[in-house]
Amino acid sequence: MESQTDALPLQGTLEPELRFDRLLLTGAAGGIGKAIRHRVAEFAEHVRVSDLPGVLSGDAAPHEEIAPCDLADRQAVDALAADCDAIVHLGGVSVERPFEEILEANIKGVFNLYEAARLNGVKRIVFASSNHVTGFYRQDERIDASARKRPDGYYGLSKSFGEDMAQLYFDRYGIETVSIRIGSVFPEAKDRRMMASWMSYDDFHDLLRRALFTPGVGHTIVFGMSANAHTWWDNRDASVLGFEPRDSSERFRDKVEATPAPAPTDPVAVYQGGVFTVTGPFDSV
Ligand SMILES: NC(=O)c1ccc[n+]([C@@H]2O[C@H](COP(=O)([O-])OP(=O)(O)OC[C@H]3O[C@@H](n4cnc5c(N)ncnc54)[C@H](O)[C@@H]3O)[C@@H](O)[C@H]2O)c1
Repeated sequence: MESQTDALPLQGTLEPELRFDRLLLTGAAGGIGKAIRHRVAEFAEHVRVSDLPGVLSGDAAPHEEIAPCDLADRQAVDALAADCDAIVHLGGVSVERPFEEILEANIKGVFNLYEAARLNGVKRIVFASSNHVTGFYRQDERIDASARKRPDGYYGLSKSFGEDMAQLYFDRYGIETVSIRIGSVFPEAKDRRMMASWMSYDDFHDLLRRALFTPGVGHTIVFGMSANAHTWWDNRDASVLGFEPRDSSERFRDKVEATPAPAPTDPVAVYQGGVFTVTGPFDSV
């Protein structure tokens, strides 16, 4: 059976019915946010661009509304989501950090975001989850989205919580989410681990479009990776999205393999979560 997204154009202008009136983008000043901020204009008439106060740079484009906000501030997040049809939620702490930091930005933050979506009638969220939800699987294992979660730190735990929020708010309130367990979205694959986990900005952009507009996703979890020669993740559970990545980390292989290889017992070579599996604890905090 053909997926519902086969009819969607892969490139070029979207049909008018596939645009939202107002889209909220959190984490807009971050690495991925900066790379996609102007590209999300094709998804909505108006884009509300948000990050922590003082970190957004550059002038607002005519379609943009600049809305600084701390995700840990519940009232501010309620106001942030007003009149939005959909949310791309990239904001939060994106590395392993002491629990108190993760608690504010990622755990309270994602709770505030889903509550704001409920109160404001937002029906679709794309949640930037992470491969660190399952970081303690070994690199010689292949998993799909139904594999038991094995977070590799407080950061992975917070993304696991975010996925549970997404499931709860779909089951109770019908708010649909695509949780993208992002591998490594960077300009280049920089090490051996990233040869498996890398995702190009173009593939991320295509997945984002499908995550926003594919009907009937409920809560779908998809691993965010390009068509790399060797990967650890099976995306069959997310076939409703019809996502077929086009890029591959192969073009970085020579450069990556010219760097010294880690010992086979080094966690960066053993676990899918790499160095996150040994970052912390943060006893001195
Ligand atoms: N880049 C990747 O490969 C990757 C991999 C897995 C998951 N992710 C997830 O994707 C998202 C974007 O990743 P990124 O690489 O751009 O991360 P990033 O750290 O560059 O950007 C995150 C942004 O969130 C903002 N932020 C932090 N705390 C906040 C708060 N309390 N309130 C409002 N904003 C806050 C930061 O200021 C920052 O601009 C993150 O949620 C990250 O966890 C990214």
